[in-house]
Amino acid sequence: MIKKLRKGVLPVAGLGTRFLPATKATAKEMLPVVDKPLIQYAIEEARAAGIEQFCMVTGRGKTALVEYFDVAYELEHTLRERDKTEALAILATTHSEPGSITTVRQQVPLGLGHAIWCARAFIGDDPFAILLPDDLILADQPCLAQLVEGYYETGGNIVAVTEVPREQTNRYGILKVGHDDGRLIEVTGLVEKPEPKDAPSNLSIIGRYILMPEVIKYLALMDRGAGGEVQLTDAMAKLIGQQPFHGMRYKGRRFDCGDKIGYLEAQVAFALKRSDLADAVRAILKNYV
Ligand code: G1P
Repeated sequence: MIKKLRKGVLPVAGLGTRFLPATKATAKEMLPVVDKPLIQYAIEEARAAGIEQFCMVTGRGKTALVEYFDVAYELEHTLRERDKTEALAILATTHSEPGSITTVRQQVPLGLGHAIWCARAFIGDDPFAILLPDDLILADQPCLAQLVEGYYETGGNIVAVTEVPREQTNRYGILKVGHDDGRLIEVTGLVEKPEPKDAPSNLSIIGRYILMPEVIKYLALMDRGAGGEVQLTDAMAKLIGQQPFHGMRYKGRRFDCGDKIGYLEAQVAFALKRSDLADAVRAILKNYV
């Protein structure tokens, strides 16, 4: 029987060094795309996929992420007194179900695998989703919801994948591919950040995963992989052959908001999707190109 997916883990302990100085005193996940911080896109995508319980793996200097989903009592009181109903409605989108967000701390930056291991008590014996908020995905059906559909078809582990240029395989987790029906791909191996000459394909994992809790016992070994870090990809690779493991070509466009160009492109793409902004943005862009 396939267990219902209710839990989501959001690793948000990263230092955001690629966005200094902006990230000196704020979390990179609080950087907005148009008018919403990256973390809210991730939480909304998770909710749309049926996730009810969230665990943010945070670190020092990340308290804004916790504050953000709280009720800002004084602010709301003031807005109510001033009849600012529109602003109140916008704020309401940041409220979370009482008790639905927990946090754990990753005390030392030992890698993504270590961050997920830090959430092991939250995960328990349940399947769980991982969303990396840096990966922002513009899609008609939110990416994680697509993955959930795949999960109920295949059971087991499933990750979102996309083709990347060969020369970029050393930035991603890369799949070794078995049967491929164009949408769902049987994964026969996984390698973290291989050089193009060693890459088993050019299909890369992007930051959406549905994993079985057994991955934790492999993470607990704390084996160091690419970059000297505890890699999630390496622990996932150990599940292959024991449990179903699939990749899914999702429908949508992914923006790497951990990178300046990806982040700037996301601003344009998301603004062009907004009926209140699209025309003005298009007019501005014409002035520059
Ligand atoms: C992480 C994962 C990698 C994955 C990528 C997606 O890498 O380790 O397997 O392809 O996210 O964004 P990072 O971007 O943290 O280096």
